[in-house]
Amino acid sequence: MSRIAIIGTGYVGLTTGACMAHLGHQVICADVDTKKVEQLQGGVVPILEYRLDELVAEGLANGRLTFTSDSSLAVSDAEVVFLCVPTPQGDDGSADLSYVQAAATTIAAALPHECIVVNKSTVPVGSTKVVERAIRRSDVRVVSNPEFLREGSAVDDFLHPDRVVVGCDDPVAARAVGALYDAVRPQLIITDPASAELIKYAANALLATKLSFVNAIATICEQVGADIDDVVVGVGYDTRIGPGFLRPGPGWGGSCFPKDTRALARIAEDAGYDFGLLRSVIEANLQQFDHITSKIRTAAGGSLSGVTVAIWGLTFKARTDDLRDSPALEVAHRLLREGAIVQAFDPTVPEHRTGVPETIRLADGAVRATSGATVLAVLTEWDEFKWIDPTEVAAAMPGRHVVDGRNILDRAQWQRNGFHVASTGRSS
Ligand code: UDX
Repeated sequence: MSRIAIIGTGYVGLTTGACMAHLGHQVICADVDTKKVEQLQGGVVPILEYRLDELVAEGLANGRLTFTSDSSLAVSDAEVVFLCVPTPQGDDGSADLSYVQAAATTIAAALPHECIVVNKSTVPVGSTKVVERAIRRSDVRVVSNPEFLREGSAVDDFLHPDRVVVGCDDPVAARAVGALYDAVRPQLIITDPASAELIKYAANALLATKLSFVNAIATICEQVGADIDDVVVGVGYDTRIGPGFLRPGPGWGGSCFPKDTRALARIAEDAGYDFGLLRSVIEANLQQFDHITSKIRTAAGGSLSGVTVAIWGLTFKARTDDLRDSPALEVAHRLLREGAIVQAFDPTVPEHRTGVPETIRLADGAVRATSGATVLAVLTEWDEFKWIDPTEVAAAMPGRHVVDGRNILDRAQWQRNGFHVASTGRSS
């Protein structure tokens, strides 16, 4: 058992804290947001993350998980401190390190002798040194330990990791951080700090590349009469490629991929390498938003002006309530710019939700969102959309056009009910 402090209780910090407590460590989490800290002290988890509330409740009940708004107090008895503060995108595409630096500076004096500080935020190569400089303590080791948690399955990803990466020039500190994960028996990869930092960016950029690629192949399928679902099965059986992360969609988004791909392009530029491949991957994703928009326009008869479009799904993927850099919102903005009336429903986005532009009308049910619509576009792969009866939709919407951006609807069933379904990666 180790004594751990977590600075920042966002997705990564709270998941790390709750899971570390679950593994038997004594954990204290600090956040500058006092309201959030009060909520967490009362067991209220402010984000939607599967099993996270259960683990927070468990830690509060057995006393292994506590919360405070005083970060110096949090670290004062810690053996290991995890920095889990945000690294938003700066104006030039690079990651903004100011929160990381501020957090490191704030806790520096309060860190116990020979404490280990772990950088868990996604930070540019060389940031371990930035934190070392902010802390200015020769007895404190700074370690990079990037996270690979997916929203919606973050707890499961933490407890069953593909690997744990620890980057530090001091092998003793690296092993101490690796040992925190002993209970999950990880594939432990110990590297220098720069390599650990780059692994995170390279992994996310390669996954984004896979998606931009599959979306491009899907567009070709639509033109040549192939079926993307069959194509990805045939491609994915090649063990060098693998079956995962090959689902076509309206583009990729979320809090990580857009930010991290741009940051890596910037890191490359600073290193003197023109990463044209990665820039194309980013560009292809923007094209995908345009492509889905054009399919909706075509379904509407060539113009979106004054046309009512129903959108099912606003979050960047299913099983999260996160709207950050959501492809669904990207498409909605494009529709609005062309004069469409957009009515949307998402199971985790209430009608008063901030983050959704007021120009998007939020409905309180999927079928209600289709009321008066000419076209229905499915943009997030929520399971519940699969079970909606097309006859109910046919009664609500005058139009008979569906653009299935995620290929989740039973196309034959919708066609039997008179709908024309434009799937992704299949000719209609
Ligand atoms: C991602 C990484 O997977 C994770 O390792 C990293 O730490 C943070 O960023 P997350 O942002 O939660 O996790 O989303 P992810 O599940 O990876 O999906 C990213 C985007 O790709 C979403 O918009 C999703 O809908 C899209 N996607 C994913 C597809 O379109 N097809 C797929 O097959 C998989």
